[in-house]
Amino acid sequence: MSPKQNREVPPLRYEFVHRIKRDFPDLEVILNGGVTSLDAAAAQAIHVDGVMIGRAAYRDPWMLAVVDSRFFGASDPLASRREAVLGYLPYVARQCEEGVPLHAMTRHILGLFNGQRGAKRWRRHLSENARSTNAGAKVIESALTLVAAEAAIPPRHTGGGVYL
Ligand SMILES: Cc1cc2nc3c(=O)[nH]c(=O)nc-3n(C[C@H](O)[C@H](O)[C@H](O)COP(=O)(O)O)c2cc1C
Repeated sequence: MSPKQNREVPPLRYEFVHRIKRDFPDLEVILNGGVTSLDAAAAQAIHVDGVMIGRAAYRDPWMLAVVDSRFFGASDPLASRREAVLGYLPYVARQCEEGVPLHAMTRHILGLFNGQRGAKRWRRHLSENARSTNAGAKVIESALTLVAAEAAIPPRHTGGGVYL
C-alpha cells in the first residue's frame, strides 16, 4: 500500500471480528482500528482477547494512564503528566547523546497535555525548539516549566461554577 492508502481507514466491521473469535475460540483475537476511548475499548474487550488503540492514544497519550487499574487490576504507574515527562527525561538525554534528534522523541509527547491548561504552549515550545542544533532534554524541561506557569494562573471564572 502507498502511504496515502495506508492512512485511509477501511470500513470497520467489528461484528466480523467478534464472529471470528466465536468461531475460533482458541485463537487469540485482538481488535484494532477506530477505537477512540477506554470505554469503547472496554465494550469491545467483552468480545475479543484484546483491543489496540492507535491514533487516539497518539493524540492523547494520557488516556493510557489509567489502563493498568481499569483493565489489569494493577495500580497505575504515574500520578501526573508531569511525572511521566520527568520519567522520560533520562531516556531522552541518553538518546540525544547517541545522536538521536530531539524532535524524533518530542513528536510522541506533543499531545500529552491536550485538554489541559498550557497544552498549546507545550506543543508550541516543543515544536519550535526541538529541531534546533544541539537541542536536548532541556527543551522538554523548559516546556514543562511553561505548562506549570500557565496552570498556576488563576483560571477565568464564568460565574456559573464552571472553569473555562
Ligand atoms: C503513531 C503510529 C504508529 C504506527 N505504527 C505502526 C507500525 O509500525 N506498524 C503497523 O502495522 N501499524 C502501525 N500503526 C497502525 C496502528 O497499529 C493501527 O492499525 C492503526 O492506527 C488503526 O488503529 P486506530 O484507529 O486505533 O488508530 C501505527 C499507528 C500510529 C498512530
